[in-house]
Amino acid sequence: MRFRQIHAAWKRESIPLTWTIETRIAIDGPVGAGKTTVGRQLADRLDYRFLDTGLMYRALTRAALDDGIDLDDEPAMAVLAGAGRIEYRFSPDGGLSVDIDGEDATILLRTADVDRGVSITAALPAVRAILVARQREIAGEASIVMVGRDIGTVVLPDAELKIYLTASAEERARRRHEESMKLGIDGTYDEILSATLRRDRIDSDRAASPLMQAEDSVLLDSDNKSVRQVVDEIVELAESRR
Ligand code: DC
Repeated sequence: MRFRQIHAAWKRESIPLTWTIETRIAIDGPVGAGKTTVGRQLADRLDYRFLDTGLMYRALTRAALDDGIDLDDEPAMAVLAGAGRIEYRFSPDGGLSVDIDGEDATILLRTADVDRGVSITAALPAVRAILVARQREIAGEASIVMVGRDIGTVVLPDAELKIYLTASAEERARRRHEESMKLGIDGTYDEILSATLRRDRIDSDRAASPLMQAEDSVLLDSDNKSVRQVVDEIVELAESRR
């Protein structure tokens, strides 16, 4: 039905078909590469929605920890993921808020217990299947910049543009360390570097949808580049593909 309407409009107005269909930009990459900062600014520039899929794994982890569910208990975690207790709300500025049981839990998704537990949640295939289906539904609603680890490879393999954003582990740790110092959070550069390397290993070695670069993605290395430069490059790529 939707295709017929679009096609009729296209014939009537002679507008390029691609202008009327939602555009999906996938950004994947390792922890700390700047995906969220870049993705949010890119979405602002293009007036697209922005979805940080890591928040969905984090919300599920938060709800499980609060309910005392063992994060390793795959059947129980899958029931929780499918129970409809977690809702995602897109605010007018394009950002995402997460409600758990009707309460705004957005600021509770980056606490240390969630940080520690979320890689266990994200390794469960039954959970991933449910969250990936929801991510695809959301991507069908409006043009979107979606960031994560498996967006270009699994969630949206036919996305119009796929970016694999990376930076050296040292640079990623340096940025995290700078952020932590600004926020008054303890942690030396060496500790942050070893945590970064550990999370890289967990994300890349897990059996279910490990982090890897999609073959048809564009590799962008953000070492020695400002956020603005990276966003400009992606906007140019998006425009050149229209
Ligand atoms: O990007 P982040 O740190 O908020 O991600 C939290 C966890 O979720 C991390 O362990 C990687 C995982 N994740 C994933 O497996 N797939 C995604 N699409 C997004 C995040």
